[in-house]
Amino acid sequence: MMATQKHSKLAVFGGPKAVTRPSPAWPVTGAGEVRWMTEVVQSGCWSWVGKHERAFCESFSDFIGARYTAAMSNGTVTMQCALQALGVVPGDEVIVPALTWVATAQAAMDIGANVVFVDIDPETLALDPASFEAAITPRTKAVIPVHLYGCMCDMDAILKISRKHKIKVLEDVAHQHGSRWRNKGAGAIGDAGSFSFQQSKVLTSGEGGAVTTNRLDVYQTVFALKQVGWAPGNPKESLFDNLVRANRYGHNYRMTEMQAVLLRGGLTRLASQTARRERSAQQIREGLEKIGGPLRAARRDRRITRQAYYAMTLYYDTDAANGVSRDAFRHAVAAEGCGLGGTYGPVYRNPLLNLYDETTSPIPYRDPKTLQDYSRLALPNTEKSVAETAVTLGQVQLLGNSQYINQLLAAIRKVSDHLPEAQQAWEQSTK
Ligand SMILES: Cc1ncc(COP(=O)(O)O)c(C=O)c1O
Repeated sequence: MMATQKHSKLAVFGGPKAVTRPSPAWPVTGAGEVRWMTEVVQSGCWSWVGKHERAFCESFSDFIGARYTAAMSNGTVTMQCALQALGVVPGDEVIVPALTWVATAQAAMDIGANVVFVDIDPETLALDPASFEAAITPRTKAVIPVHLYGCMCDMDAILKISRKHKIKVLEDVAHQHGSRWRNKGAGAIGDAGSFSFQQSKVLTSGEGGAVTTNRLDVYQTVFALKQVGWAPGNPKESLFDNLVRANRYGHNYRMTEMQAVLLRGGLTRLASQTARRERSAQQIREGLEKIGGPLRAARRDRRITRQAYYAMTLYYDTDAANGVSRDAFRHAVAAEGCGLGGTYGPVYRNPLLNLYDETTSPIPYRDPKTLQDYSRLALPNTEKSVAETAVTLGQVQLLGNSQYINQLLAAIRKVSDHLPEAQQAWEQSTK
């Protein structure tokens, strides 16, 4: 049962906190990886397509349902290499949602592509298929649907539009390792998938990334691009051995064995952690419906057969909030012990993308005639979500047990019952 705190004073004004239990710990590790790590350290075999990297790639392919996995050093170079493997060349246009981490856009820019930003669905925060279709030009080569926070993109609509216009699809799955659309794993639905294993992600090795794909040509090119131009000579025999010069340019974007060990351990826990987070999300969805305040869960598409959560996506309904802003609400809920996040900013406003500023632009070889000026962009759903309506609840909190989740709900109920006081506290704090 959820505690009712109707009459207690808000914590922001010195009342008792609704959340007394500690937040779950992150990252989680197990004895298996400690043992493997010791072995790796003692073996002296620390990199170069080692046995843990191979084992991880095979297990990850199974987990996602993709034929191939190439392990790499982070989830940005994965996108650069995947886009190149899909045939993106300088001057091509790549469509990117305006709400994502800046790296999604940077990856395309770093290989000389022009990024075209499109708007998002105001509730799920995922790429809006109609905006995607409207942005297509004869130069469009690829689209990057980002499965952001806790909602997958509408992959039926995105694939239909992409096939019609012969556009390649690279899924950015940095947030949703293990999500499934009609039982197909995110990262195995489009032409390729890109994963990040950075510290905060649901599967992590501190830093790291992977490209998944069902296409052998894409796998081989990505492999060569990360392995200084070398790729498996006979992939039918081995996906990792007998490297030959693949007659391609290549970088060093390799993963170490230490990273692979952490990923192998994490992968043994991922399915049960995802199930735990799904149960918490359902509890929160139902709890918020009962509370009936301004905060609710973003709608869940029935075609999503498993939802992985970097964060649960919530929606703050300003019409139901009696003039109380989202940030006033979050401020009071945080004082109760329940931290609710916001989102990234609109990517087009990120200072890294100021391509006209010689001191910040990292891209020396762009054609000035095709340079995009993003400074005047303001996409309505992105702007409103970032400033007023989007709220997130982090993946670590979702790992909590049902008593902990009940306390988070009690915090939200308490503030929903005291909206004018929450606004007053916010105004005092921002004076
Ligand atoms: C949506 C999204 N895409 C890509 C990345 C890039 O991953 P990495 O930090 O591993 O380069 C991130 C990282 O936070 C991300 O959130």
